[in-house]
Amino acid sequence: MSSTRMSIAAVGLALLPLIQAQQPATSDPGNLPLTTWKCSTAGGCVAQDTSVVLDWGYRWIHTVGGDQSCTTSSGVNTTLCPDEATCAKNCVIEAANYTSAGVTASGGTLTLNQYVQSNGAYSNASPRLYLLGSDGDYVMMQLLGGELSFDVDMSTLPCGENGALYLSEMSATGGRNEYNTGGAKYGSGYCDAQCPVQTWKNGTLNTSNQGYCCNEMDILEANSMANSYTPHPCSATDCDKGGCGFNPYAQGLPNYWAPGGTVDTSKPFTITTQFITNDGTKTGTLTEIRRQYIQNGKVIANAKSSSGLDSITQSWCESSDSSAATFGGLTTMGQALGRGMVLIFSIWNDNSGFMNWLDSGSSGPCSSTAGNPANILAQNPTTHVVFSNIRWGDIGSTFTNPGGSSSSSSSITSKVTSTTTTKATSTTTTKTTTTKATTTTAAGATQTHWGQCGGQGWTGPTACASGTTCQTQNPWYSQCL
Ligand SMILES: *[C@@H]1O[C@H](CO)[C@@H](O)[C@H](O)[C@H]1NC(C)=O
Ligand SMILES: *[C@@H]1O[C@H](CO)[C@@H](O)[C@H](O)[C@H]1NC(C)=O
Ligand SMILES: *[C@@H]1O[C@H](CO)[C@@H](O)[C@H](O)[C@H]1NC(C)=O
Ligand SMILES: *[C@@H]1O[C@H](CO)[C@@H](O)[C@H](O)[C@H]1NC(C)=O
Repeated sequence: MSSTRMSIAAVGLALLPLIQAQQPATSDPGNLPLTTWKCSTAGGCVAQDTSVVLDWGYRWIHTVGGDQSCTTSSGVNTTLCPDEATCAKNCVIEAANYTSAGVTASGGTLTLNQYVQSNGAYSNASPRLYLLGSDGDYVMMQLLGGELSFDVDMSTLPCGENGALYLSEMSATGGRNEYNTGGAKYGSGYCDAQCPVQTWKNGTLNTSNQGYCCNEMDILEANSMANSYTPHPCSATDCDKGGCGFNPYAQGLPNYWAPGGTVDTSKPFTITTQFITNDGTKTGTLTEIRRQYIQNGKVIANAKSSSGLDSITQSWCESSDSSAATFGGLTTMGQALGRGMVLIFSIWNDNSGFMNWLDSGSSGPCSSTAGNPANILAQNPTTHVVFSNIRWGDIGSTFTNPGGSSSSSSSITSKVTSTTTTKATSTTTTKTTTTKATTTTAAGATQTHWGQCGGQGWTGPTACASGTTCQTQNPWYSQCL
């Protein structure tokens, strides 16, 4: 939802292959590796060879063999880019410079900065990134009947900032085509439920002046003062732009999400979001979106309003959102989650509305002007958000209940996998499975440098190549370092 801007990208890359397009200027897109984990009840969590890619609109697109920009502040230079084919002939797109984009990644940890410092001055970075698979396409995360967990540190996000982790139903290839051969590897194809009108649409030069709408599921839009999670289903041409979000403060619980609150936003914690279907399968109808937190070794059930509301249901959507029925509410959202959606990370603030919809008035404790980006820059220039240990898969497979067994304080279904027996036990009666893990360890197999060597459910090699040792990163992952 942040505005599309050009970054001051690398100027030093002189080698321009003889290709046409707003085609890649370099063969290596230089994206940042970010380990994520795909989990199942039977097999535990397995590290994925994923990376993050900066959005296309933040990159330098310039003339082939030259350094004249093919974009302007309002779109493209229409002399260089009167149409897709001509633009492709005249222009190339650069790999991103993640340092100047305000992004760092290490292992399974991703940090996004609102501002970056260069020559002693701060400038706005506000990066937006997508999760990319090793095949060069976006990871199409299928979460219907499943769940997503991650850890987040938003302690430095003040009023007016939005550290966001969400899903949009972008094309897996980013709209890769003959004129845009990089596609997802260069971050093309963004869409969301606000139907943004952009210079490029699904990887192709936008000549129709139309917005690009797609289903969006906001898992987290938050700062240290307020948060909400919100489904935004779409029809072919329009979307439920408001959505039926769940925000604890708006539910009358001002101390639930706050520094020192029930969920203490001054410290890191784990967020789990579950997409429950009517029949418990991954093909059923989405009926409920549940939420749980884990902090300091304790499960924290989602906030519960005085009327008993503690999750997003179809009836909540229909009572709180007049557009829910028009766009099919949770049913439509569930179909998109079943097809697969792209995971998006961003940090942004808002020059026009100061993010009041998120954290001011009935939504949060911030004053209506506290979120003015000028205030944020003056008072919190180093504001940033850290996302880590991203895990997705079967219900109950992406987190370990503190204490190792289901606890009555847990508001959501959990299963605990055992690494020693490679069996999974379920704490629900309906879905108990006892399945052998599909991977087996060859006797004496050793893992290479950087490879996975342990973690919950891991059945691959546990010995490391000589010169490296197996080091525990978190309960789900140990790595040969
Ligand atoms: C990326 O940007 C940083 C900071 O702006 C700069 O110091 C660095 O040289 C750039 N890297 C490349 C490869 O151009
Ligand atoms: C667009 O590109 C043409 C051809 O290179 C150039 O002469 C012109 O100044 C550019 N216009 C803008 C607005 O940058
Ligand atoms: C986006 O582009 C891809 C590749 O050309 C195409 O397969 C897909 O149908 C397009 N999606 C939309 C919504 O236009
Ligand atoms: C695409 O959309 C923008 C924004 O509305 C518009 O200014 C532009 O004319 C459209 N077409 C191109 C080629 O950028």
